[in-house]
Amino acid sequence: MKAVLMNIFIAGTDTVAATMVWTMTALMKNPRVMKKAQKEVRTLVGEKCFVDEDDIQKLTYMKALVKENMRLYPAAPLLILRETLQKCNIDGYEIPIKTLVFVNAWAIGKDPESWENPEEFMPERFLGTCIDFKGQDYKLIPFGAGRRICPGMNLGVVTVELALANLLYSFDWEMPVGMKMEDIDTDAKPGLTMTKKNDLYLVARNYI
Ligand code: HEM
Repeated sequence: MKAVLMNIFIAGTDTVAATMVWTMTALMKNPRVMKKAQKEVRTLVGEKCFVDEDDIQKLTYMKALVKENMRLYPAAPLLILRETLQKCNIDGYEIPIKTLVFVNAWAIGKDPESWENPEEFMPERFLGTCIDFKGQDYKLIPFGAGRRICPGMNLGVVTVELALANLLYSFDWEMPVGMKMEDIDTDAKPGLTMTKKNDLYLVARNYI
């Protein structure tokens, strides 16, 4: 019982926290996207003072930027490793039975054969498409795929979206005195969860 609960706590907290940090990092480095997302949420929510779960469904651009962030910065870049059940051949490579396989979701998200200008943070690439991270589109698998896909996906997505929408709605974000946007790096610490190597420091200015 303890192990199961630990599993849920670890899998469900680190990943959401890392995703939030990567999203704010990406937005600070892409002020155009930040402004567009803030305009969307502030127009929708108006004077209500907070964003709730019903509002989230209407935030099309913010949802696209969450996808774009997960494409470039998947919280668990190598998913959870698999073991082959039988021998197989992939692209001419003979894979023996019981081979441990890492699926590199991070590299898949940057594959130029699947994505145009893969290094660019461009949420617009998802608008008007049905590409999603629910395990059906193998070029976007930040939650994995198949029978071991993340069971907390829906909770994880709504947690990220709700927190992010409120951060974008309530505050304008600036760099601390003496720091420039160019100082923000995207170096990652190695680990099961990909976290930012250097902490992200931002100044929140009250908007409402
Ligand atoms: C943004 C948030 C999250 C991300 C990016 C994420 C990502 C992932 C990934 C990539 C896997 C491995 C899937 C695979 O190998 O195919 C996984 C597994 C798992 N996740 Fe999440 N996750 C998130 C949130 C959560 C939440 C909120 C919970 C629970 C409350 C959770 C619980 C789990 C558990 C228990 C597993 C292991 C499943 C298994 O081994 O069968 N995750 N997650």
